[in-house]
Amino acid sequence: MHMRLRSRVWFVLLGGAEIFFLLLPARSGEAQASAPDAAAVERGQQSFSSNCSFCHGARGTGTEQAPNLMRSPLVIQDQDGEVLGPFLKEGRPSLGMPSFGSLSSSQVSDIAAFLHANLRTMRRRRAPEAAVIVGDAKAGEAYFDGEGKCSTCHSATGDLAGIASKLQPLALTTAFLTPPDQPVAAQVTLPSGKIISGTLKYEDEFTIALVDSNGIYHSWERALVKKIDLTDPLTAHKEQLALYTDKEIHDLVAYLVTLK
Ligand code: HEC
Ligand code: HEC
Repeated sequence: MHMRLRSRVWFVLLGGAEIFFLLLPARSGEAQASAPDAAAVERGQQSFSSNCSFCHGARGTGTEQAPNLMRSPLVIQDQDGEVLGPFLKEGRPSLGMPSFGSLSSSQVSDIAAFLHANLRTMRRRRAPEAAVIVGDAKAGEAYFDGEGKCSTCHSATGDLAGIASKLQPLALTTAFLTPPDQPVAAQVTLPSGKIISGTLKYEDEFTIALVDSNGIYHSWERALVKKIDLTDPLTAHKEQLALYTDKEIHDLVAYLVTLK
């Protein structure tokens, strides 16, 4: 849903929230469970080095030309080329990422295998989970109640009480850095002045669609409506991603893990 916001989050992530990557839990299941296919990784490395490394670097960790793919949500979400494939078909030519329509699906899945093997190696080199908690819980609490404005929506004794018993530190970190998408409230004002509200169902450059409280689907050409107001309950989270310093993230984690 709501691709526009999502791609902004991606940019933010690429733009330097290194810590997000460091702390991202190894995704459940991900190839981790099954032994990586060494031959596929090898073929993927060759494909990568002839098609991609020029811009993304030999190990995909980025150059001045192109971003670090080890931090790309597209790569992280991908398992076997199913996210990467459609992306590579289109590319983002206007942003310097060519389209690779001619790669076969097995070539894409080999490239994916290579990138995931790199990710696993990098994660293995990182410190174990316990080392994540290097922050200062007091400073985290102050940030929660102050600058971070977390307490305007959450409470340590209310909705977040016991959160550290439900979530391990890594999952907890992901939960506040990038909580799962929530329904976006949409309000469309028609030229007549009539307002129709509901939950955003679809949005692109030309079209907007919502489902109202009676479950009825409405869709309009953007150009023909007077005004569109969207309220994403996670806007604060998405904006905060760009603002956190590493220390603030460490401190918040140290604080949140005390909410047992
Ligand atoms: C000519 C340089 C170039 C080549 C070659 C290239 N890329 Fe890219 N790639 C880019 C640039 C620049 C971006 C950033 C585009 C943007 O700003 O959204 C990018 C973005 C990406 C992204 C999205 C990152 C994200 O999360 O937003 C992926 C995935 C990716 N490239 C994979 C590949 C793969 C796999 C190959 C080889 C098959 C490849 N690229 C070849 C320049 C290149
Ligand atoms: C404008 C309101 C708002 C602000 C400000 C806000 N959040 Fe959230 N937060 C939400 C919403 C909405 C969700 C998703 C629904 C939910 O899980 O409660 C969420 C989800 C979360 C979750 C996941 C909860 C769970 O049960 O999985 C955590 C943890 C969290 N926020 C922490 C924070 C922290 C830390 C800050 C401050 C840096 C913050 N939030 C600021 C609205 C907000």
